[in-house]
Amino acid sequence: MRLERSAWCGDLRSADAGSEVTLCGWVDSARDHGGLLFIDLRDRTGLAQLVIDPLRSGALWEQAKDWRVEWTVGVRGSVRLRQEQSRNPKLPTGEVEIEPVDAEVYGRARPLPFGIDVGGEVEESIRLRYRYLDLRRPVLQGNLRLRHVLTKAVRDHLDAAGFYEIETPTLTRSTPEGARDYLVPARTAPGHFYALPQSPQLYKQLLMVAGFERYFQIARCWRDEDLRADRQPEFTQIDIEMSFVGPEQVMTLAEDMVRHACGKAARVVLPDPLPRLTYAEAMARFGSDKPDLRIGVEIADLTAAFLSTEFKGFGGAIGSGGVLRALRVPGGAALARRELDALTVEARQRGAGGLAWFLLGGEGERRVGAAGVAVRSPIAKFLSDGELEALLGATAGRPGDAVLAVADRRDVAAAVLGWLRLWAADRFGLRESEGVWRALWVTDFPLLQWDPDQGRFVAVHHPFTAPRAEDLALLETEPAAVRAQAYDMVVNGTEVGGGSIRIHDRAMQARVFAALGISDADAADKFGFLLEALSFGAPPHGGIAFGLDRLAMMCAGADTIRDVIAFPKNARAGDPMTGAPSVVSPGQLRDLFIRSLAPSGQA
Ligand code: AMO
Repeated sequence: MRLERSAWCGDLRSADAGSEVTLCGWVDSARDHGGLLFIDLRDRTGLAQLVIDPLRSGALWEQAKDWRVEWTVGVRGSVRLRQEQSRNPKLPTGEVEIEPVDAEVYGRARPLPFGIDVGGEVEESIRLRYRYLDLRRPVLQGNLRLRHVLTKAVRDHLDAAGFYEIETPTLTRSTPEGARDYLVPARTAPGHFYALPQSPQLYKQLLMVAGFERYFQIARCWRDEDLRADRQPEFTQIDIEMSFVGPEQVMTLAEDMVRHACGKAARVVLPDPLPRLTYAEAMARFGSDKPDLRIGVEIADLTAAFLSTEFKGFGGAIGSGGVLRALRVPGGAALARRELDALTVEARQRGAGGLAWFLLGGEGERRVGAAGVAVRSPIAKFLSDGELEALLGATAGRPGDAVLAVADRRDVAAAVLGWLRLWAADRFGLRESEGVWRALWVTDFPLLQWDPDQGRFVAVHHPFTAPRAEDLALLETEPAAVRAQAYDMVVNGTEVGGGSIRIHDRAMQARVFAALGISDADAADKFGFLLEALSFGAPPHGGIAFGLDRLAMMCAGADTIRDVIAFPKNARAGDPMTGAPSVVSPGQLRDLFIRSLAPSGQA
């Protein structure tokens, strides 16, 4: 390499006119305007325009006329102001151009599988196959720069708040109660396996027992679960733990950190303090434990108003302890019968006995309330005027709207109306515009939930989460009613972080294991090291972990976390570029005492 960089392309301004620079980068475009060569040179900071005049620099022109896009080249030359008519106000460097006097080609490029400028439209499998080209796209360059700024701001904030960054192992012991593990066979212990950590949860608790008091880690985590736009098998947490704190201190620290870091990375402004909802309230009003507050409609409860209804469809559910809840869908009067039927089918698939719908305005057969709003519904004839008035009153239904109602078990009504709320937001464009952040805390989650498949209670967060003191008496008698000292941060309907106060008392941990149906022997076998540590003077402690990828995705306004991860996996947890996962040699397997049972042809 003869020519070495002295300046960045994107930094050049009119004040640099007259100076000599050496620029290095990629040929972004090359145009021939009546003999004059115009070349846009790109590095990670942006574009600079080179102009090569055959009459002034013939030899260089001969060389540069063959340059093709995505070659890497270096040029030495002087910066000069562009002529008035060729200035480009859209480009930060649009006032200047460079007239090279020397040039060097570092690397030629074969014809590309896709143009960098149109890469965003190319099928993802091809983009992932050539991820290093995909990453040349300015939008992905910007996303990874943003992720760097975000990560650094997190580190700075936590450092200033007295946290130590401590690494924990990635070859760990498989612990049950989570997602499926990624396992690593141990050569030194035939038939034994390490597991890649699903989170550093137990290690960070042990660091509290060890007396570090304030820990954080930008930690890689692995979970073998079904993938979605906001899920990767390998992802990164901002993992935090603190000693001698209650939920308030953890939540304050965490939201200050998010406010600071997302403010730096994306100029996001979050309310201080963030709004809070209990789990029970979130489920009742939004039908979700991660409510999207960009959607302006809420679920209304009509149970009290329909206690003595004569309509069996509602009365039956209410009579057996269920609820009647309804959702206004602005603009929903336009729904066709076929759509309403399809919604009803889907509501049934989600467990509801049915879906009641009311279309407001137009040609309704019933007129309701002082305003005489027309109501169209197959069940209107079964309801009294007072009941219909209550329905419209509680949902604030207006002409042009639909009201969708479910009478069922509390959890079923919440799930179905929560799903309908999201559906309606897509169908009728009910979300606030892009760029809005609606962040909140959801608190007081249930500690346990019944798992019908396993026939036992399982932890809603994880088995080390502390119950709320006032609910403790219910742990053995009414486990489902016990609330946890747990909190999630939710942004625009996505869970970006979650944590809890932990159990720091060995006896209490044993009680929770018992409630989970984990026997003493099992607990000793699987979590013995934790129980033992808790018996050596453990401080009260708690923490939280944020999905760094999810926060970066939000800050970047991306639709998927794959767009903020340099080398993500595809939907089948594979990497089309390197071909991972791959078969390995019989010798490697032999060393590990492993024989493959994969169906022939697959391995
Ligand atoms: P949890 O399992 O809720 O808590 O994870 C914390 C946060 O990590 C992110 N996250 C993911 N991001 C991308 N892909 C995934 N597959 C994925 N899974 C989770 C989410 C989530 O909010 N140890 C506890 C935290 C604690 O209690 O301190 C834990 O791991 O943003």
